[in-house]
Formats: sequence, structure tokens, C-alpha cells
Amino acid sequence: MAKAKRQYVCQNCGSATYRWQGQCADCGEWNTLVEEAAETAFSAKHDLSKGGRTIALETLDAASPMPERMLCGIAEFDRALGGGFVAGSATLIGGDPGIGKSTLLLQAAGRLAKAGKSVVYISGEEAAAQVRLRAQRLELGDAPVALASATSVRDILATLDRQTADFVVIDSIQTMHSDLIDSAPGTVSQVRASAQELIRHAKDSGAALVLVGHVTKDGTIAGPRVLEHMVDTVLAFEGERSHQYRILRAVKNRFGGTDEIGVFAMGDAGLGEVANPSSLFLTDRSGDVPGSVVFPALEGTRPVLVEVQALTVRLASGATPRRAVVGWDSGRLAMVLAVLEARCGLQMGGAEVYLNIAGGYRLTDPAADLAVAAALISAFSERPVPSDAIVFGELSLSGEVRPVAHDALRLREAAKLGFSRGWGPKGMKGVNGIGVTGFGRLGELVDLMLGRD
Ligand code: TYD
Ligand code: MG
Repeated sequence: MAKAKRQYVCQNCGSATYRWQGQCADCGEWNTLVEEAAETAFSAKHDLSKGGRTIALETLDAASPMPERMLCGIAEFDRALGGGFVAGSATLIGGDPGIGKSTLLLQAAGRLAKAGKSVVYISGEEAAAQVRLRAQRLELGDAPVALASATSVRDILATLDRQTADFVVIDSIQTMHSDLIDSAPGTVSQVRASAQELIRHAKDSGAALVLVGHVTKDGTIAGPRVLEHMVDTVLAFEGERSHQYRILRAVKNRFGGTDEIGVFAMGDAGLGEVANPSSLFLTDRSGDVPGSVVFPALEGTRPVLVEVQALTVRLASGATPRRAVVGWDSGRLAMVLAVLEARCGLQMGGAEVYLNIAGGYRLTDPAADLAVAAALISAFSERPVPSDAIVFGELSLSGEVRPVAHDALRLREAAKLGFSRGWGPKGMKGVNGIGVTGFGRLGELVDLMLGRD
């Protein structure tokens, strides 16, 4: 039999080579290759075209029962999942350290246990006493959650075989260790092997399994991107640690859409649900301020009003101007600046530009282009955008304002919060008493704001 070779596995993307390299040839990350034992040594003599069993093929319209759903009772969590946890499924929750993953899952576990479900919470990071202390702080000290501090997958599976559970939390998968593999916990092959065993157990036993995963600087689940393929649902828990609000976003969901989010605020008694996120991001807005614009962002099908703030500082000629962005894509800002300069004649090239999305919110909606442009024009000209207006629309490089999805939904949310003007793409209709101004080109917005004819 061929001897198992050593191999080098990229801790970022999971690709393997037999020679060490400074840079991963697949994902281009540096210094991510770590020596690990090869999992199996395949013999080239095997012929896969022979000796298999035939598989019974089915039709698409065959009757199959809907998967059983389990609501945890935290509405924002259930919503992000697309209607609760699915029995026999695996969910991965990724997020920065300290963002509140353990808190959220302990709250969900406590609720489910109180509702009569059998719940097992395995912590590989904290001692049972620490988890217990947190549960008391969350006023869940009396919830019948079965708690253990463990990292050996073999021990965990043995325990789960005895105690059938409806809901199992593994916090975190990076601390788990399978003795079938002799690499350190947290390496790709360890995480993959541990997850595989735990997921198989969940599918067999019908438990809803939740794996907590740490996230690297660039926002991917640390090491095992491979993990995302193995689970049914991937949720990202996002937010700035210095701000109190958190967003739970479905990145992948085999049982529902990925367009729903859950919004939470971290408080003294754990994560509270935020049913009306717009009110959270629009706090403390004061009158007409140059550079401040309200943008109706869309999170899936849910509108969230956020404030876009811009500041421009004219520099003495010669100095290199700074461009700093918080909460938006800096490439996109460069594009909007270029369009303003090339198509509308606004000379911002020599000015420093700062852009901030208030409340630590991260904007990904392309309809933010026009709101950002309005904030920049307003900051640059020191003319405020009316404080009762919302602005949205996508920009093309030619300076056209493009229509965006769900304009009525955005306007309705704005009307609900007392706004009375909507500036956006041409052709949209006013709703609920909001007066709309449509722009075909960015130049028209510039003319309006600068009072040019
Ligand atoms: P935690 O759930 O441990 O984060 P993660 O598991 O994602 O690493 O949450 C850690 C932070 O949350 C910690 O800095 C303290 C804060 N926190 C509160 O503000 N209020 C609370 O009630 C709890 C339990 C935690
Ligand atoms: Mg934790």
C-alpha cells in the first residue's frame, strides 16, 4: 500500500500541494501553506467505472415532506434562517471574535430548551462555568440546556449518541479535534474532518446542528472555506464591535432565500431584537447639514434607512489629497468622484474626501451611488440636501442615473419615518404622500443642488 505522503494545505482556500510554496497558487494568499498529513493515499489502479450499484432515479414532482422547522423564538434569528432551524441540517455562523456569536447561540439555545426541546451546547473555547455565568447574565440560568466544555469529536459523538438532541451547538468548529487526523485543531484538514463527522451525525439523528466559525480579516470563515460547501446554511454575523448593532445575514441557504437579515443590538442583557432598523441608524440627525444624505438601503426585501456623510477639504495645490471611506467600497467612491468630475465639471480632484456611513453600517447596495454623489456635492458646495429627502439611484460611468430594484418599497419606508421627498431615477412614482423628483442624468441633480439652470 502506498504510504501516506505529507502535503501542504493552504489555510485560506484548502488547496493542497506536495511542495511548500510561499504563495498559494490557487488563491494567491502568502504564507498560508501548512504541512498536514494527506488524508488518504489513492491507488491509481482503482477503476471507478466498474463494480458500482445502480442508483434509483426519481422524478422532480415526487411527493416529499417539507423539512421540519424549529422556531427559536428570536424573530430576527428565525427570519435570517428563512423560518427557523431545519431538523437534520447544519448551519454555520461566522463572525469576528467578540461580535456576539456565543451570546446569540446561547440565547437561542436557552429559548429552545425552555420551549421543551432537547438542547446540547458544547463549548470548545470557554469553560462550562463561564458559559453558565453568561447564561445567568442573559437571565437564562434556569433553561434546561445540557452544557459541556469539550473538544474531542469522538467524545462529543459518543455523548450525542446517548442523549438524543433536537438542537446542538458547537462553539467553535476551529477548536474541535478529530483523532483520525494528526494535525492541530484549526487546520483545514482537522476542521473538515471534525465538521464532516458532526454533520453526518446531525443528518442521521435529525438534530439541527449549529457550528460557530471564526472569520479572517477579509471576512471569510477562517481557514476552511471548504466548510461553506459542507453545511446547508451559512450565516454571517456582522457589525462593528464599537457599535451596538449587529446584522445576521444568510450567505447561503439550502432551505430558503438569502435575502433576509436579522438585526440585533448588543445590550446589557445580551442581544436584543431590533424590529425597526431604520430608527437605529438615523438617530441624532440634526436639521440641514451639508454633506449629510439619507439613503434607503435594501437588505434583501427589507428597507433600512441609513445616513451617508461626506466631508471634503480643499487643499493647497501640490499636496496629495486623502480619500478615506468607512462603510462603503473605496473603488466605488473613486468612480462616483470621477463621474462628478468628468461628466458634471465638479473639480474635486484636489480636495480631500472622507465618506462615512453612520452607525457603523456597511453599504453594499449599488443604489447608494446617487446618495453618495449627493452627499459629495452637498459637502463640496456647502449646500445641504433637504433633511426630509431620501436619495437613491445607481450611476453609470456615462453619468446616467439608472433605475434600481424596489423603489416603491424604499419610498414607503421613508414615508413611514416622516420623509416627504424622494430623489431618484427618472420614472419612479410617488407613494404614500412622498413627492418624487426623477433624474435621468447626474448633471440634473448637480444643477438642482447648485441652483444652476
Ligand atoms: P461573545 O458572544 O462572546 O462573542 P463571540 O462568541 O462572537 O466571540 O460576545 C462578546 C461580547 O459581547 C463581549 O465583548 C461582551 C459583550 N456582551 C454584552 O455587551 N452584553 C451581554 O449581555 C453579553 C453576554 C455580552
Ligand atoms: Mg464565542
